[in-house]
Amino acid sequence: MPEVSMTVNGRAVRREVEGRTMLVDFLREQLGLTGTHVGCDTTQCGACVVHVNGVAMKSCTMLALQCEGAEVTTIEGLVPPGTPLHPMQAAFREHHALQCGYCTSGMVMMALDIVRRCREPDEATIREQLKGNICRCTGYHNIVKAIAAGAAAMAAQHG
Ligand code: FES
Ligand code: FES
Repeated sequence: MPEVSMTVNGRAVRREVEGRTMLVDFLREQLGLTGTHVGCDTTQCGACVVHVNGVAMKSCTMLALQCEGAEVTTIEGLVPPGTPLHPMQAAFREHHALQCGYCTSGMVMMALDIVRRCREPDEATIREQLKGNICRCTGYHNIVKAIAAGAAAMAAQHG
């Protein structure tokens, strides 16, 4: 079997993988990072969003082998264990932006990619950019409010 090397949440990893192994399965099954979810497996729901070289990617749609040499960040890597939540996670909690939580890690990772591209996005921008993320519980109102609040908190933090 071929091997793949990448950095995941700041840690260098090297594993044998089958050529057909998707990044999400590599993260969940070989690295035990189960915060990244599978909601559809067909590139529609966004539950599997992680960052690859700083950009949001649906990890059910990318082969692990395509990540050779890449920097991958999952929800587990946003802040070190035992430290306060990332401001975007805190905003989701504050604004009741989740119920079952299944979509939440993908929503947060997508939210951070939105903020990367637009420092303080307005409501219309957030709604447009969230088209690839499905929540089956909450409706989107509180998620949109949380992302706006999280973006504002991040902007305040960075000055
Ligand atoms: Fe990847 Fe739904 S599991 S988009
Ligand atoms: Fe349940 Fe979004 S909180 S799917």
